[in-house]
Amino acid sequence: MMLFHAACWFLLLSLSTARPVASTNDRPIIGILTQEVADDDMKPFGKTYIPASYVKYLESAGSRVMPVTLNQTEAEYKNIFKAINGLLLIGGSVDLETSAFAQTAKIFYRFALKANDIGDYFPIWGTCLGLQLLTVLVAEENVLSRTPAENIALALNLSTEAHSSRMFEKFPPDILASLSQEPLTGNFHHYGVTKEDFRNNVKLREFFSVLSTNTAIDGSVFVSTMEGKKYPFYGVQWHPEVNRFQWNPGYQFPHSENAVRVSSLLAEFFVGEGKKSLHHFSSPNEESKALIYNFNPVYVGNITAYEQVYFF
Ligand SMILES: *[C@@H]1O[C@H](CO)[C@@H](O)[C@H](O)[C@H]1NC(C)=O
Ligand SMILES: *[C@@H]1O[C@H](CO)[C@@H](O)[C@H](O)[C@H]1NC(C)=O
Ligand SMILES: *[C@@H]1O[C@H](CO)[C@@H](O)[C@H](O)[C@H]1NC(C)=O
Repeated sequence: MMLFHAACWFLLLSLSTARPVASTNDRPIIGILTQEVADDDMKPFGKTYIPASYVKYLESAGSRVMPVTLNQTEAEYKNIFKAINGLLLIGGSVDLETSAFAQTAKIFYRFALKANDIGDYFPIWGTCLGLQLLTVLVAEENVLSRTPAENIALALNLSTEAHSSRMFEKFPPDILASLSQEPLTGNFHHYGVTKEDFRNNVKLREFFSVLSTNTAIDGSVFVSTMEGKKYPFYGVQWHPEVNRFQWNPGYQFPHSENAVRVSSLLAEFFVGEGKKSLHHFSSPNEESKALIYNFNPVYVGNITAYEQVYFF
């Protein structure tokens, strides 16, 4: 009985006085950078946007989402960086150097390099245009060329590095095999980085491991999946979020059982990376004000390839 009481007191004391020293964060919040609206059909709704499919993708794996809006000051971005546990760069179509999307991504990229260098874990994920932007940031030049693969689902040509990668580490062997045999990856791009240009660029090849390549409609071979060798930065030229969250029948969105599994596994992987970040908001009030729950998505299934989009 005495022992029980002593233990209870100890528990109460430690709960009330000390912040737990957590090595993993089970309440991650991942930022999604908003992007300028380029599509004329979406312009009436707002200046910047995030497709809801990316939000659902992260939420489905146990993360909350903060929309990161454009045109804030570097000091404001620094505060956001200190509060979030990772950043996702969406696909789309804006300039990779001059857009506010690209310039803001660059600010976070620099913060993340510095943080990771001192052991402050901060992952970044780029999908499609997001992968392309990561290559521009790392290479410090635009090495893109035409690699058309518009509206086509492909099987990945996995490299030997894929089998010892972090991204695919938790993939069951049968799912990894099906990823290289079945068309589970939706591609919607005209440009990319060819395998050759990647290999010829010393900055890119030293920074990233190429986990897969694919052949475009014109025969060019492009990098389709990559992960940082030293940094927790990841890129896919294809769209894992569409497998579970986009349904327009005019598009090659893979929805098979294995396609759904691939989408889930990669979302869980990236959210798992976010859980290694101990950044947090200064107060519960600041946190709740920042979350995507303060916004409502708009139905755009009749005018775009998305079902719902958040506008800012
Ligand atoms: C960001 O600022 C630039 C330059 O002032 C302006 O042209 C642009 O419309 C702004 N973008 C957004 C999304 O507010
Ligand atoms: C896959 O990549 C390897 C080298 O990485 C290459 O030899 C092979 O031809 C590629 N296969 C396909 C189907 O493109
Ligand atoms: C699309 O759907 C919305 C919501 O139902 C409706 O208000 C809008 O008029 C539709 N637009 C077109 C172009 O059909």
